[in-house]
Amino acid sequence: MNKLYYGDNLEVLRKYIKDESIDLCYIDPPFNSKRNYNQIYNNIGKEDKAQAQAFVDTWTWDTEADKGMAEIISNYNGVFTKQSIKLITGLEGVLGKGSLLAYLVSMTLRIAEIQRVLKPTGSFYFHCDPTASHYLKIIIDAIFCAKGGDYKNEISWRRHYSHNDGNKFGCIHDIILFFTKSNEYTFNRQILPYDEDYIKKNYASIDNKSGKRFRSVSVNAAGHGEAKYFGEKLLKPPPGTHWRWNQERINEAIKEGIIYFTSNGVPRYKQFLENVEGITVQDTWVDFYSLSSHDKERLGYPTQKPEALLERIIKASTNEGDTVLDAYCGCGTTVAVSQRLNRNWVGIDITYQSVSLILKRLEDSYGKAAIDNITLNGVPEDMESAIALANKADDRIRKEFEKWVVLTYTNNMAMINEKKGGDGGIDGTAFMKDYNEKNEPINKEVLFSVKSNKTLAPSVIRDLNGTMEREGAALGILLTLYPMPNLVKECKKYGTYENKVMGTSMPKIEVVSVQEILDGKKMNLPLPVEVLKKAEAKKETGQGKLEF
Ligand SMILES: C[S@@+](CC[C@H](N)C(=O)[O-])C[C@H]1O[C@@H](n2cnc3c(N)ncnc32)[C@H](O)[C@@H]1O
Repeated sequence: MNKLYYGDNLEVLRKYIKDESIDLCYIDPPFNSKRNYNQIYNNIGKEDKAQAQAFVDTWTWDTEADKGMAEIISNYNGVFTKQSIKLITGLEGVLGKGSLLAYLVSMTLRIAEIQRVLKPTGSFYFHCDPTASHYLKIIIDAIFCAKGGDYKNEISWRRHYSHNDGNKFGCIHDIILFFTKSNEYTFNRQILPYDEDYIKKNYASIDNKSGKRFRSVSVNAAGHGEAKYFGEKLLKPPPGTHWRWNQERINEAIKEGIIYFTSNGVPRYKQFLENVEGITVQDTWVDFYSLSSHDKERLGYPTQKPEALLERIIKASTNEGDTVLDAYCGCGTTVAVSQRLNRNWVGIDITYQSVSLILKRLEDSYGKAAIDNITLNGVPEDMESAIALANKADDRIRKEFEKWVVLTYTNNMAMINEKKGGDGGIDGTAFMKDYNEKNEPINKEVLFSVKSNKTLAPSVIRDLNGTMEREGAALGILLTLYPMPNLVKECKKYGTYENKVMGTSMPKIEVVSVQEILDGKKMNLPLPVEVLKKAEAKKETGQGKLEF
C-alpha cells in the first residue's frame, strides 16, 4: 500500500521506514538557496496572484543543528560511518558553525537514514544545484561508499535555456547525484531518439532504392584478420584491420543489399536510421526544461519538477512493483509518476500544504480510488493529535495547524493566508459564484479564521464580521478547537446570506469545531471556485486501476 507521511522526514524515517525496504530514493530537498518559496493560487478576479509560503530555505546554526551535530558524532542509531563523522567534524573546522554547516548536518542525518532503508540493490538520487553539490557529494560518498556503495553519476540537468546572473555565466543547470547501495543494482538503459541535427549530420545519405536515410559504416575494425568473400570477390582487410563480421553475416548483408563498394573497391555497409534504437541517455539532460507557467502539468507549486525527469529516474532504477521513496515530496511529482508507472511509493513532507496538494493531485489525475488506497500518516485523526499540532513549536514551519484545519475543512478549496498582523486574523479565503446587485456574475469571498484558544470572547465574532464588511466578504467561518456556546450564540446575531445563483440561504457567520472536522464535516458552499490548478487526468496502466 502507498504511504504518505505528514511530518519531519528524519522522524518518519527513524520511526516508520524499515531497513532495506526501498528500491529507489529520490530527494529534492531545499538547496540552501536562502529563499522562501510560495505556492501560487489561481488568479481569481482582478487581484494580484495570491501566494502562500510553501516552505522556507534559509538555514541558521541553532539548537536543532547542535542536536544534529551531537547525534552524528555519537553515531545515533549506528547509521553514521566513521568517515561521515570525521568529515562533518572536519567541515566544522573549515566552515564554522553557520548556515552552510547547519544545512549539511541536516542532510547528513537524513542521507544516513536513507542509506539504511535502501535495499542492497537500491539507488539514491540527490537533486541539488551547484550551491552545495560539492559538499554533498563527499558527504554521500562518506555514507554510501564507506558501506560498499558506489558513486555512479553526477547528472547535469539543463533546467533553463538561459538565465541572466549578472557578471558571470548564467546558472542554468541543476545537479543530480546518483549513488547505489552496492554494485548489484537495477539499471534499465533509457533510450532517446536522435535529434534532427544529429540525423542530418550523421544519417545524411538517402538510399536510391528505398528512399531511406542511412549512414555509411566501415566493415573493418582495428586488428588483424583473414580475407573474406564479399560476393564473388575475396578481399583482404586493409593493413592493421580485420573484417568485423564473420563470413555468414557478410553473406547475409550482401543478400540484404546493404553492402556497397567505394570507388577504391572498399566494402562498407548502410546502417539505416530505422534500424537504430537512438541514443542511450547520457549524464547531461537537455531534452526538457523546468516547468513554465504555461505548462499543463504546472500546479503553482514553487519547485515542482517535471514529470519527465522523475519518469527517467524511476524507469532507469526500478521495475514495476518496486518501491520508490521521496522524503521531500513537495507537490508530489515522484509519487504521481510512481503511481502512473505502477511502482509502490512512500512520500514524506513536513507541510500540510504539500500533503493536501498531493492528495488533490492524485485524485485529479487518477480518481478517488487512488487516494483510497493510500495510508495517510501524521495527519491529526483525533482531538489529542489536533491539539498537539496546534501546540507544535517548530521554527521551520508556520501556521501548520491553521493550514491543516482550513485545507481539510474546505477540501483544498481555500487559499492559505500567510499575512501576519493587519489581516484581521484571517487564515484562509475561499470563493463562491454569485450575482451582484446589477445581476452580473461575481466571485464572493468566504473568510476563515482559525482559533486554538481554550476561551474566546464573543468579540472574535464581532471582529470577524468587521473584517468581512471591510473585505466585502459574503461569509465568515470560525474554525476552532473549542466551540464555546457563547460564540455560537453571537453568530446568530448576524443573520443569513442568500446566494442568488442557487437561491440558497446560509448563516452569515458560523462556528465549526475541529471535532466536527475530524468527524468528516466539510465545507458545503454553493458553486465553489477552484483556487488550485487541477492536475490533468492521467491514464493508469495497472490492472484493476481506474482508466480515464
Ligand atoms: C524543493 S521541494 C520538493 C519539490 C518536489 N520535488 C516536487 O516536484 O514537487 C522540497 C520540499 O521538502 C519539504 N521539506 C523541507 N524540509 C523537510 C523535512 N525536514 N521533512 C520533510 N519534508 C521537508 C518542503 O516542505 C518542500 O515541500
